[in-house]
Amino acid sequence: MDHFLNENAGSLKEKVVILDFGGQYSMLIARRVREAGVYCELLPYNTSWEVIEELQPAGIILSGSPASVNQDNAPGCDKRVFDGGIPILGICYGMHLLTKELGGDVSRGKRSEFGRTSFEIVEKEPLFSDETFLAPESCSAWMSHQDEVSALPEGFKVLARTENMTLAAIGDEERKIYGLQFHPEVFHTPGGSDVLRKFLFNVCNCEKTWTPRSFVDDAVSKIREVVGEKDKVVCALSGGVDSSVVAFLLDKALKDRAVFIFVDHGLLRLDEAEQVVKLYSEKLQGQFIHVNAVDRFLEALAGVTDPEEKRRIIGAEFIKVFKEKALSMGDITYLAQGTIYPDVIESGTVNGAAVIKSHHNVGGLPEELGFDLIEPLRELFKDEVRLVGAELGLPDNILKRQPFPGPGLAVRIIGDITAEKLFLLQKADYIFREELDKAELNEDMWQYFAVLTDVQVVGVKGDDRHYGPVIALRAVVSEDAMTADWARLPYDLLDRTSLRITGEIPDVARVVYDITSKPPGTIEWE
Ligand code: XMP
Repeated sequence: MDHFLNENAGSLKEKVVILDFGGQYSMLIARRVREAGVYCELLPYNTSWEVIEELQPAGIILSGSPASVNQDNAPGCDKRVFDGGIPILGICYGMHLLTKELGGDVSRGKRSEFGRTSFEIVEKEPLFSDETFLAPESCSAWMSHQDEVSALPEGFKVLARTENMTLAAIGDEERKIYGLQFHPEVFHTPGGSDVLRKFLFNVCNCEKTWTPRSFVDDAVSKIREVVGEKDKVVCALSGGVDSSVVAFLLDKALKDRAVFIFVDHGLLRLDEAEQVVKLYSEKLQGQFIHVNAVDRFLEALAGVTDPEEKRRIIGAEFIKVFKEKALSMGDITYLAQGTIYPDVIESGTVNGAAVIKSHHNVGGLPEELGFDLIEPLRELFKDEVRLVGAELGLPDNILKRQPFPGPGLAVRIIGDITAEKLFLLQKADYIFREELDKAELNEDMWQYFAVLTDVQVVGVKGDDRHYGPVIALRAVVSEDAMTADWARLPYDLLDRTSLRITGEIPDVARVVYDITSKPPGTIEWE
């Protein structure tokens, strides 16, 4: 099936290649390009010219890097990049690299520039415009460098320079090769997105072809092409954004040749399983199978207190249940999975071609299932997955669903898991979420949930002393879950939630609010 990969690698003509030299903002460059409506791929810096050429990029962007071009073994790219006739934009290290490769010089600057730096535009076209920076004579941009261009390659002109006379932007109009000392992709460079757009549309003549609509049309035809006229595809549904978008795409492409399996492990939030069943059985034209495996999971988890052991058991049980059901369906060839672009980049399986199908399994169901994989979201960032979901008509409660761990509430019940504890936590969690939603704070939060601790404390109910568990509330703000800050929720919201939880769930003796950020804490308690 690899023919699919080769034949379609160039199907999206208006694409840009970003060569990643290990800069901390490389993924951000890719997101900015996509936001501008141009498809791009982030490839390792040493990708061969053959692979790049096959993609027929309209432009090539060279990213930043923690390295210096003057150090031993400085990362370089295939030299044919510079004489392939394709427009190039080098950012920071990328600018230094193209300078050296084309005969100029780079040296350690007298002063390093870190942070916001002003610069003056010497030549407006083709990268700058009056709209780009509010005060065109004095622009500010984010810089982070020690090296600087000390001699221009032949044919290059200065387009902008900083107060220290560092070259902030250079270019060779003839060869359409440009370099920026600053980072246009970061938030701290106010006109940065405009500079990138000018490169994409003025220099590379890109068209805005990357839209949710075009992605859906393209993905649907690719799925049909890969799967053919007869084969069937199975897809595991979890109720999360990624698997839901995959399901709706498959459904659009294959109708009744798509089989959707929802393994209900009983560890979802209150009423969530019912909502998933209702939504998918109503909306999907393919075959929707709801496997109620709650008792099986509870039995497998009985008495287990170690968090990693819980995760292992849930993962293994999930595969067992899914496998039994999928194999019982008989004639299925493909398994569809919701792998997204950051997973692909992190797993190092980027191979220089936009694929929706791969034999690599990026963490998910194992190859032993014997199905070929289809991964229609391999090209998308998370925010793009949501836009595609909206295009496909998915409801907001799925698209805006907060991240939810695969092992579900099992890692939010400290200690062993029983059906009673599960129900108690579901109720407390529901109350907290309801209060936070009512206060319209939900969209500000990364995650917000309740945890059932294994601590029994004393309380007073009526005239009696009463021992019961402690419920912990957790709400965090975060960009990407790598770090997180505990949310400064209003006291009256916390008060209402606490009163409701202790009032509506008599067993609960106490409610506490977790004020630990990550690091040193983690978002989940287990
Ligand atoms: P931590 O607790 O490590 O969580 O700060 C970071 C993010 O990952 C989620 N998480 C998980 N997701 N399986 C998952 O699919 C897991 O075992 C798991 N553990 C944590 C967590 O909800 C947060 O968004």
